[in-house]
Amino acid sequence: MSNDWNQKWSTVTLEKRGKVAWLTLNRPEALNALNQQALSDLDQALTHLEVTSLQEVSVLVVTGSGEKAFVAGADIKEMSNFKKHEAFQFARRGQLLFQRFEKLGQAVIACVNGFALGGGLELALACDFIYASEKAKFGLPEVGLGLLPGFGGTLRLSRVVGLNHAREMILSAEMISADRALQLGLVNQVFPADQLLAQTQAVAEKMSMKGPVAVQKAKLSILECFDRSVDAGLDFEANQFAYLFETEDMKEGTVAFMEKRKPQFQGR
Ligand code: CAA
Repeated sequence: MSNDWNQKWSTVTLEKRGKVAWLTLNRPEALNALNQQALSDLDQALTHLEVTSLQEVSVLVVTGSGEKAFVAGADIKEMSNFKKHEAFQFARRGQLLFQRFEKLGQAVIACVNGFALGGGLELALACDFIYASEKAKFGLPEVGLGLLPGFGGTLRLSRVVGLNHAREMILSAEMISADRALQLGLVNQVFPADQLLAQTQAVAEKMSMKGPVAVQKAKLSILECFDRSVDAGLDFEANQFAYLFETEDMKEGTVAFMEKRKPQFQGR
């Protein structure tokens, strides 16, 4: 496939491998910490993804450059001089940006190669699920800085690991290992460091063979139904289910099953 789609900003790169896009945070000198420039670059990268068809890119993997870090949080040096209103704007900017990952049409896998701290863990939590290297470390260390997690961490962590473990992680500010994160259900799988990228690509490729509109609607239903009553959630799910019956992919998927062949999805 052509590489025309690939993009590079000062702190973020986007690269397509088949139907899988890799978004890499690239500020290794600051352990990929999120400064204002990185938030702007993520904004651009998300816009690029949002206007890309599901057929062209059906899965996104988010990772960090270098051996050491996924993302070591928001940039503490930059934040240290913020006034109250700037801090509010920064938190809202990060929150809204991460919501776009959560709502992206493509499935999103966080591929955590090292430290995922503060805003870094919050970014991973906004992805659909997390794979990690055995060397990864997770934590929300903000209270140790006199801060609290401001990019959605107080909300999303408890949804994944439950209130009690979220309270322990946030209030103690202690880092946990990849194995502990696996035990808590924060991480879906842990891989040897030298296999993480290849294993993540392999899973992402398999996912990219599924019906992309179906994946999009399933992701939407999981997200939307989480906050709804059971009745309202089931109604929403039934509507998404029905929507798929008007897609070419649904016809192709069911006919391919009956013809005992692999489906060729078009993403519509
Ligand atoms: N912001 C800015 N710079 C950072 C950074 C961050 N979050 N994390 C690391 N860096 C920088 C370091 O300052 C250092 O730069 P210099 O060489 O110029 O001093 C470089 O990255 C390498 O880091 P260390 O020398 O500290 O590496 P280490 O191996 O000794 O320690 C670490 C690694 C434990 C991850 C440590 O860097 C650390 O504790 N980082 C901060 C983690 C943190 O507290 N994150 C939360 C930020 S607040 C937040 O995210 C708020 C929010 O919710 C939005």
